Amino acid sequence: MRVVLLGGAGYLGTAASHHLTALGHDVTVVDGLIYHRGDDPAALLPRTARFVHGDLRDADLLARVSTDAEAIVHLGGIVGEPASQLDEQLAVELNYASPMIAAEAAAGAGVGHYVFFSSCSVYGLHEGTVNEDTAPNPLGIYARTKVLAERRLPEVLGGTALTSLRLATVHGASPRQRLDSVVNKMASHAASTGRIPLNGGAQRRPLVHVGDVARVLAGVLEQRLTGAWNVGSDEENHTIGDIAATVADVVPGAVIDRGPERDEADARDYRVSFASLQRALPGTCSTPLKDGAREVADLVLTGAITNPGQAQYDNHRGLIAAVTSGRVGRLATAECRRYGTEYTSAWKAS
Ligand SMILES: NC(=O)c1ccc[n+]([C@@H]2O[C@H](COP(=O)([O-])OP(=O)(O)OC[C@H]3O[C@@H](n4cnc5c(N)ncnc54)[C@H](O)[C@@H]3O)[C@@H](O)[C@H]2O)c1
Repeated sequence: MRVVLLGGAGYLGTAASHHLTALGHDVTVVDGLIYHRGDDPAALLPRTARFVHGDLRDADLLARVSTDAEAIVHLGGIVGEPASQLDEQLAVELNYASPMIAAEAAAGAGVGHYVFFSSCSVYGLHEGTVNEDTAPNPLGIYARTKVLAERRLPEVLGGTALTSLRLATVHGASPRQRLDSVVNKMASHAASTGRIPLNGGAQRRPLVHVGDVARVLAGVLEQRLTGAWNVGSDEENHTIGDIAATVADVVPGAVIDRGPERDEADARDYRVSFASLQRALPGTCSTPLKDGAREVADLVLTGAITNPGQAQYDNHRGLIAAVTSGRVGRLATAECRRYGTEYTSAWKAS
């Protein structure tokens, strides 16, 4: 299958590009390398993948790469609340306008399938267990852009089939490593300092391994599964305290430093049901937390990563560096303005 991965040079996209090419798919990656500091994408991507450097708000570029594609996968954008809150207009351009511009291009080129990377963050704070039918409760800009994009995409796509993947928090090693999500942060910190800072240990987080996400994407593309899917597994709904304890188990000698009970900066707390995905693609999300934690700790312990504190591993600090150096910024093109206005009125109306 001819697949275009928009934002495919990132943490999830590089892992997915290796998996998809290994399965025999023809992969093109389009990325602006926002967080990269001159590293060669060829070193991150499989030899057989094509790489196109560009901006995912560029309608002409997106129309060009959509020609002849059988599936478009949108993994671009800003990830997480802290980075999204740096500049709301930029977040709306990258996380709402860009998926819409890509959807227009896909529909215009007659692409059969569009896969949108969303997040379990859309559920925010919820009592009990949430599933795909639970009403979203976005707690910030990041979650809001995902909710509104999921809602609007079907109309923009017309006859192109849509899949929205609502990912649990991802962990594990990837060619383009991120260390800013909960497991990767604790594991890399524990491996480099021997300490595991723990705040708000009671909050729950659903987790999924980066390799499992790549397997889910392949399954979704090959079986043309459409609609919204929570991506993870029921067994991997952990509390932050469980995560710290697991990291302490896999990093020899690491000690947990307990801080205040709740981290008010991130109030997300939910248990997610992954039953639908488990029925459709059984066994795809079976990699446990301890495997991902060990992989990340090993990157530090073996010296593959020498300074886990570098901004390139952290999307929030990486975005500040990218904006400061001009690698990314607001474009305010006609499309960005149109979708920005639409986003604002959709949010006010909801
Ligand atoms: N990693 C997680 O824990 C997680 C969890 C839930 C959802 N997601 C979603 O999965 C997707 C991929 O996440 P990731 O962890 O791989 O993120 P990432 O930041 O590692 O990768 C995103 C890539 O998109 C590129 N990009 C972003 N905006 C662009 C633009 N306008 N033009 C060109 N390139 C652009 C960046 O350069 C980067 O390489 C995102 O949509 C994210 O919201 C990730």
